[in-house]
Amino acid sequence: MSTETTSITDGLDLISPHGYAEHGPPHDTWARLRAESPVHYCEPAGFEPFWAVTKYSDIFDISTHPERFLSEPGITVLTAAQQEALETSAFGSMRTVIGMDPPEHWAVRKVANRVFTPRAIHELDDEIERSARELVDHLAGESGEGECDFATDVAAAHPLRILSSMLGVPREQEPDILRLTNQLFALDDPELQREGEDRQQAIMELGMELYTMFDTIIQDRRACPRDDLATVLANGRVDGEPMGMMETVGYYLIIFSAGHDTTKNALVGGMQAFLQHPDQLAALQRDPSLIDRAVDEITRWTSPVNYMKRTAAADAVVGGRQISAGDSLVMFYASANRDEDVFDDPFEFRIDREKNRHLGFGVGEHYCLGANLAKRSQRALWLELASRLESIEQIGEAERIHSAFVVGLKHLPVRYRIRPAG
Ligand code: HEM
Repeated sequence: MSTETTSITDGLDLISPHGYAEHGPPHDTWARLRAESPVHYCEPAGFEPFWAVTKYSDIFDISTHPERFLSEPGITVLTAAQQEALETSAFGSMRTVIGMDPPEHWAVRKVANRVFTPRAIHELDDEIERSARELVDHLAGESGEGECDFATDVAAAHPLRILSSMLGVPREQEPDILRLTNQLFALDDPELQREGEDRQQAIMELGMELYTMFDTIIQDRRACPRDDLATVLANGRVDGEPMGMMETVGYYLIIFSAGHDTTKNALVGGMQAFLQHPDQLAALQRDPSLIDRAVDEITRWTSPVNYMKRTAAADAVVGGRQISAGDSLVMFYASANRDEDVFDDPFEFRIDREKNRHLGFGVGEHYCLGANLAKRSQRALWLELASRLESIEQIGEAERIHSAFVVGLKHLPVRYRIRPAG
């Protein structure tokens, strides 16, 4: 890998979980990188070196050439200690679709593909809408007035309910699964991470607990198949052979973990955007037919999956820079989604934005398996809120998660008036 760096950044502000918690996504640095050094060599202290890729066109190019830019060596940038802890935990031996390359990737992805088509997700609409209605009814109570933490009480609860029912997690276990996914994503967040002085031990225990929970459901669906996603996954076959136990548990894990925090962060980030741009909430309330564009704009604006890493399979040229085989490339979707060459006024939040070709769900081989579900889930909650919300204001500080990978808010205290049920 080249050792050249420029003074714009050593990369730490792009990747440090604590930087995201304190300052939010580094949009100023990304804007400079897009203009001056779109494929930029970084050597952040404590992390592996990588190329920061910040332009839409380069990210598109890398993502659509999965045979040249691999996912298998790893999709996140970790510290050496995290890398070691993950390798020695139950996660180390769990291989999931998001970390596989062609041709294996497609064979495994096919197992769940049919459950996530627009038609299949449409069949879940009643359930998704019921979850949204029940949550908003609960917020409204009898008086229609109240206060809540929109992040935990609404944004986390909605995808939790939907994914739990899809994956066959019994309702009484929903709080456990929420705690475990929070711990998984917030390895660096002092409030959310699993307790324990010994971080390696804590991650190992987390892996075991998740494994046990999913294993129970898988055994049940193998013994007594039902008409649900849990059964499809538990009995999945790859190239005619039943999937191994690690692959099967890995599928559960990836769907739950990839689906929950991302949707939650889009919802809570969307609410923050509406609070900061009340005219946009009013526009949705006046014209609910804007909903699909609004959901896309919220996904572009919040970019809950901040980045994905790839590894060059062979020497390559990306954005005019010479990349060596084995180099890591980190594709910052949040930067691509503000690329001035692709979006008009990228720093404006506009729910009627047309032709919104954002990369919030990625592109190419690994394009988000759950994109339809994520959109329908958001759609239902925003429509329910927009039709009943009379007022909403922020009443305390918004707090960000200590994470540079799946990014967003963990707290957003609000006071509201909502039209009660009925
Ligand atoms: C707003 C919500 C969501 C966002 C922003 C999001 C974003 C992404 C992105 C950027 C990728 C591409 C990864 C890559 O190229 O390496 C991805 C892949 C994936 N997502 Fe999502 N996602 C969301 C919701 C969901 C949901 C609800 C599910 C499942 C229920 C899900 C399951 C997956 C899976 C399984 C993959 C891997 C696909 C593959 O490797 O072929 N996601 N997601």
